[in-house]
Amino acid sequence: SDYETILVEKKGAVTLVTLNRPQALNALNSDVLADLINAFANYDADDSQRCLVLTGSEKVFAAGADIKEMQDQSFADMYKSDFFKGWEKVTATRKPWIAAVAGYALGGGCEVTMMADFIIAADTAKFGQPEIKLGVTPGMGGSQRLTHAIGKAKAMHMCLTGEMMGAEEALSSGLVAKVVPAADLIDEAMKTAETIAGMAPLAAIANKEMVNAAYEMTLAEGINFERRLFHGLFGTQDQKEGMKAFVEKRPGNWTGK
Ligand code: HXC
Repeated sequence: SDYETILVEKKGAVTLVTLNRPQALNALNSDVLADLINAFANYDADDSQRCLVLTGSEKVFAAGADIKEMQDQSFADMYKSDFFKGWEKVTATRKPWIAAVAGYALGGGCEVTMMADFIIAADTAKFGQPEIKLGVTPGMGGSQRLTHAIGKAKAMHMCLTGEMMGAEEALSSGLVAKVVPAADLIDEAMKTAETIAGMAPLAAIANKEMVNAAYEMTLAEGINFERRLFHGLFGTQDQKEGMKAFVEKRPGNWTGK
């Protein structure tokens, strides 16, 4: 395999990426980041792949950024390398991807789940931002994405106490899209990914882009962005095919054009 710290399998139109540093509870060091950047770039570039699932093990999605790799770094080291900046390459992925989370998703692990388009959680999932216990803060977007996802009160509570949130509360708080029994996690995530993989590819990118715009734009700008992108899809073959297929009562046959 081309990867040291992750497993990458293509299953039909879905890429399954499994974090695989069990000895360090999938702690996210620079090797993991480099592997993920490659895997996500390959996924984005591969027309045969239409959705991606990122998962960990039964016990742990990821126990955070690698504390042993960070502990001796100076401010100058961190600032000069713009430490964690590389994760923006993962969030730049244009095609849809899902985080399938069982067990611990802590610190950077929690932050990576929130980079996904959405999270499907096992009933064993535990989310947390415990960086305060290490004398630091989230550094891969957690303070921002968590607050957007669950609001100030719960995000502030989690960041200031370092306490974990279980799957059911994560569901009722809006952090995760769905909770399933742990034994069904991968099947459910793959099934959901296959559903998305069966959609018109350009429409999938456009839907993702416009939902994400809700975090970046005012309501008026976002609504305009949505409408313009919607208009743009009328220049695609798949819009013609999708509407024709509906009228003819058959599934659409997508070309991605
Ligand atoms: C490096 C880690 C690690 C981490 C665990 N390990 N988490 N190594 N970075 N984030 C290593 C342990 O040192 C240990 O290595 C092995 O994995 C097994 O861990 P244990 O603690 O023995 O397992 P367990 O008792 O089951 O406890 C599981 C756990 C605990 C509750 C998840 O490991 C834990 O609290 N981990 C740290 C969680 C955390 O603080 N995450 C935030 C990281 S900072 P050895 O060699 O002893 O076997 C972060 C922030 C980014 O993500 C932003 C800026 C800092």
